Amino acid sequence: GDVPGRTLAIVEELKGLEGPLLPILHEIQHEFGYVPQDCLPVIARELNLSRAEVYGVFSFYHDFREHPAGRHVLKLCRAEACQSMGGDQLAESAKRLLGIDFHETTPDGAVTLEPVYCLGLCSCAPSAMFDGEVHARVDADDLDALVAEARR
Ligand code: FES
Repeated sequence: GDVPGRTLAIVEELKGLEGPLLPILHEIQHEFGYVPQDCLPVIARELNLSRAEVYGVFSFYHDFREHPAGRHVLKLCRAEACQSMGGDQLAESAKRLLGIDFHETTPDGAVTLEPVYCLGLCSCAPSAMFDGEVHARVDADDLDALVAEARR
């Protein structure tokens, strides 16, 4: 599609807001399902920011994706309570199971793996979110089941 044209329309619509950069990035991700990197120079130019400033904000917020997601999105909590309850091992299991790292999608397009920073389920750590649904006390077997479901 016409990424620069649609980006420009979004920027035009939102640039009057106070602090327009975040709303613009959110709207772009909503529109495309991710933030195509060729949007960033358009935004920078229109908001009179440097590309580095725009990229800095884009990369600071973990919700923004650089690439389109797969059919399913598995988010693992990487914040402190979950880390202390085996979150690191769980992350390693997920990476091994899927054969990808965070921010990547399996070659069959089934699953994108993303970090998330606290899902509000700290007392039932470690937690995960699969296609928007939260899961508490996740272990490697749960991951197996979720991924099997995703690949069906
Ligand atoms: Fe993982 Fe809060 S730290 S849910």
